[in-house]
Formats: sequence, structure tokens, C-alpha cells
Amino acid sequence: MKKITSICCIGAGYVGGPTMSVIAQKCPEIKVTVVDINEARIEAWNDKDLDKLPVYEPGLAEVVDEARGRNLFFSTDVDKAIQEAEMIFISVNTPTKTYGVGKGRAADLKFVELCARQIARVANGDKIVVEKSTLPVRTAESVKRILKAEAGEHEFQILSNPEFLAEGTAIDDLHNADRMLIGGDQDEKGQEAIQALVDVYAHWLPKDRLITTNLWSSELSKLTANAFLAQRVSSINAISALCERTGADVDEVANAIGSDSRIGPKFLKSSVGFGGSCFQKDILNLVYLCRHFGLPEVADYWEQVVAMNDYQKHRFAKQIIDTLFNTVSGKKIAFLGWAFKKDTNDTRESAAIYVAHELLQDRAEIHVYDPKVPKAQMFRDMEYLIENPGSVYTENPLPENWRDLIVVHEEPYTAMDSAHAIAVLTEWDEFKTYDWASIYAKMLKPAFVFDGRNILDGEAMAEYGFEFRGIGKGLEKARANVEA
Ligand code: UDX
Ligand code: UDX
Ligand code: ADP
Repeated sequence: MKKITSICCIGAGYVGGPTMSVIAQKCPEIKVTVVDINEARIEAWNDKDLDKLPVYEPGLAEVVDEARGRNLFFSTDVDKAIQEAEMIFISVNTPTKTYGVGKGRAADLKFVELCARQIARVANGDKIVVEKSTLPVRTAESVKRILKAEAGEHEFQILSNPEFLAEGTAIDDLHNADRMLIGGDQDEKGQEAIQALVDVYAHWLPKDRLITTNLWSSELSKLTANAFLAQRVSSINAISALCERTGADVDEVANAIGSDSRIGPKFLKSSVGFGGSCFQKDILNLVYLCRHFGLPEVADYWEQVVAMNDYQKHRFAKQIIDTLFNTVSGKKIAFLGWAFKKDTNDTRESAAIYVAHELLQDRAEIHVYDPKVPKAQMFRDMEYLIENPGSVYTENPLPENWRDLIVVHEEPYTAMDSAHAIAVLTEWDEFKTYDWASIYAKMLKPAFVFDGRNILDGEAMAEYGFEFRGIGKGLEKARANVEA
């Protein structure tokens, strides 16, 4: 098989943009063109001002700066890029369906299908098509059928190459991937296509990290990896609720169990609940597949991971309302953070959105500060949740004037000034460096802090005078329980 010299990627989002930037950086002899139908997005990728890139990731700007214009290009001319490329990545969004059959559970494959049809229509030669979006098992089969049915004389090989990068650490994850998984057909042509992609990644990854499998194993591994990671978070969050009742400290428990090499220390950080575009979507996808294949017990098992996550977000919101004397109506609640985790401007499925919804149901006034998320995004997130409640806790309607009840701040101190309570929703490092003594002085008393990420030092906060509540740290309450 000859070496690949030209790659195209359809979809310039959180996955396609960073992944292709790193491929271009590490493979200077390969021309990499990233295309998208969203003109504004492509314009932003081409912006001379690297602060304006549409995706914020530490280290990304440097990689783009190195490769852009050399062998990395961003364009809206999808047809031309498809024709020029020997290898085409499909990296478009696959949200959970919001309509029709499988609503709220199945993955919406319309964008992937459109891509497949477009590739078949305009291709002028044989192509290797690589699935990069997270997709349900057996999507490759559908893509293959569309390509074959529409293709004419050209040959297409389909590979599954799921992305395991996490947002906020995308560049590091790409540079030092634990593994790169490549699935393809087991016949000779399939193996040649797999080898072509292996050669691309072998530019910087050791051979033993390049795992090759059949198509279905590769597709299922992606869903399973995310389901396992999410399950760890839900498991430790379940234990956090018990810690709050018994007086154990969830971080101590996590540390103790994480030292068992069979369990391991990662992904045991208790929080207000996991978010992000992948975990919930992939589990719901897995659940849908299990039901489709007649495995209701397996479906129920995985569905509990999402149910526990909904409960954790709800528990946090409820604790705020309960602690503030059973109502937050008319009270100023400061939100530190809106993104689903630190070091990203992505807000998809962020716990903050759900907590905001529950507090707004009780007519709180929410004052938000997030270092990276723009105001318009926060309102879009709220509107989306109102249209697609997804959880039993966010089905109640919001007051008509809910838009007036969300105030977005450009800096943190005004958000917290005269607040009744502060809720930490994202673990941004800068929150730890604030002048907490002066924040305390300017808040209403008692001044409550609910740390949904356990990033602040509870004892120090109590010394400033705050009524401090961490996740899974119910010492005071537990003591009261024992005394009562
Ligand atoms: C377990 C704990 O490992 C140990 O730390 C605790 O002190 C006591 O309980 P044990 O019951 O002796 O130890 O055996 P373990 O090796 O954990 O296996 C338990 C069961 O799980 C066995 O039936 C084993 O076959 C099964 N198992 C284990 C699997 O089916 N798959 C695995 O990957 C691991
Ligand atoms: C995840 C997977 O990690 C990645 O491999 C896959 O490619 C995409 O989905 P991502 O969603 O970017 O990546 O972020 P991740 O770091 O996995 O965090 C997901 C959510 O879980 C975040 O809201 C995070 O705050 C939360 N989380 C994570 C915890 O609450 N506790 C933890 O210990 C770890
Ligand atoms: P992800 O997190 O999977 O990267 P994003 O939503 O960030 O998802 O990015 C997906 C991108 O794919 C979007 O910018 C969207 O405009 C683009 N896209 C969707 N369908 C097509 C298509 N048919 N052709 C080109 N780009 C597409």
C-alpha cells in the first residue's frame, strides 16, 4: 500500500480540529485539509489571531501555528477536499436523537449519513473512509452500504478509529495516547487500509500502542470505555451520598480504594456530576443497543449510571435549597464555572445547566462567572435543556422571566458581591486563588459555599467564616445525626 499523502477531515469541531492539527504537525509530508459547512467556524480556524480559534485547548494554538499554511488547511469547500484526499475522516457531530424513533437515547446519525452520501457522490477515485465520530456499533456497516450503493466504480474501505482524547487535555492526549485503536475489515484490502492508518500514527506513537481489531470490536470499545469511565464517577458519587450521612470523607475513601492496583486512582474524583458530550450520550447509546438486541437486563444495568448522575446533580441543587432555609426564591446564588470541566469552553451536558434549572424552578437569581464560556452559550444551554429535559428533575417549567434571573459576569468578584451563596460548578484552577477573605466580607451572612468539585480547602474556608459544604464531606451533619 502506498503511503498516504493527502487527508481530509469532515467536521472541524472539538474532535476533528485538534486531531487533524496534531496529525499535520507530526506528519509534515501529508497534506491535511479540515472542512466544515459552518463558515464562521472555518473562518475562526483561519483567524490570524490564535486566541480566536473556535476550540480552546491548552497547547492547541501552538500546534496550529506550526502547521497551518504549511500542510494544515481549513476550508468550506467539502467537495474539493474529498476529491483531493486518499483518506477521509468523518468527524461530524452525533448528538442523541431529539425526535422520532429512539428519541432521547439513540444517536442521531443524519450528519454521518449525509457525509457518506456526499463522499460517494463526489469521489473521483478509491478512498479510505475513517469513522472518527462516536457511533453506535455497526454504523460502519451502514456507511459501507451507502458508499457501495452510490459509489459506481470506486472502491471504499471503511475504518473505525475512535477518539479517546479528553477535552482540556486534547493535545497532550493526542501526543501521548495510551493507545490508538484502528478497526477494519479482516480481508486483504481491509488490512491494507488499516496499515495505511497505522503508518500515519506511527509517525509519533510507538507501535505497541497501535491496536488493530475488527470493525465491531473497535466501535464497541469506544462506547465501553466511556461507559466504564462514567460508571466510576457515578460509583464514587453514589458513595459520596453515603459519606455525607455517615461522616466518612469521600476523598479519603477514593484514595484508599484507588491504591488497590486492581482499582487504580484515576476517575475517582467525586463531583456535582459528570458532563461532556460523550459520557451520557454513549451510555444511552449502549442502552439503546442492548434493548435493540434483546438484552434488557444489560440495558438496565448501564442505565443506572446515568440515573445516578442525574441524582447527583439533583442532590447538589437540593442541598443548596434545603440549606438556604428551604427556598432560594429571590436569593443571589453565585455560580463559579459553567463549563463541564476545567480548561475547556465546552458546556455540553454540563452539571451547571441542570443545577441552574433546578434553582430557577425555585426562582433563584443566578450570577454566573466562567473564565471561558460566553453568555450567549449559557442561554443556548438553558434553552436546549428546557426543550429536552432528559431528567425527571428538570421537567418542571421555569418562571416565564427566567432569562432575567440569569446574570452573567465578566469577572468573578461582582458575581459574588452580596450573594447569599456560592456554588462551585467547574474546577477551574483560578477559583483556588481568589481573595476569599474579602469575598466573605462582601457576602450576606451566613455566607454559604457549596463546593461541587472539592477544590477549596474546607477548613481554611471555615476559618474565613464561611458555612462550607463539600461533596461527600458531611462531617458536621453526620456528627449532628449521631448526637440526635
Ligand atoms: C476478594 C477481594 O479481591 C479481596 O481484596 C478481599 O479481601 C476478599 O474478596 P477473593 O474473593 O478471594 O478476594 O477473590 P477475587 O480474586 O477477588 O475473585 C472474586 C471472584 O471474582 C472470583 O469468583 C473470581 O473468579 C471472579 N473474578 C475476578 C472474575 O470473574 N473476573 C475478574 O476479572 C476477577
Ligand atoms: C471523555 C473521555 O475521557 C474521553 O476518553 C472520550 O474520548 C470523550 O469523553 P471528556 O468528556 O472530554 O472525555 O472529559 P473527562 O475528563 O472524561 O470528564 C468527563 C466528565 O466527568 C467531566 O464533567 C468531569 O468533570 C467528570 N469527572 C471526571 C468527574 O466528575 N470525576 C472524575 O474523577 C473524572
Ligand atoms: P465533536 O465534539 O464530535 O467534534 P462538534 O459539534 O464540535 O462535534 O463538531 C462537529 C462539526 O461537524 C461541526 O462544526 C459541524 O458544522 C460539522 N458538520 C456536521 N455535518 C457536516 C457535513 N455534512 N459536512 C461538513 N461539516 C459538517
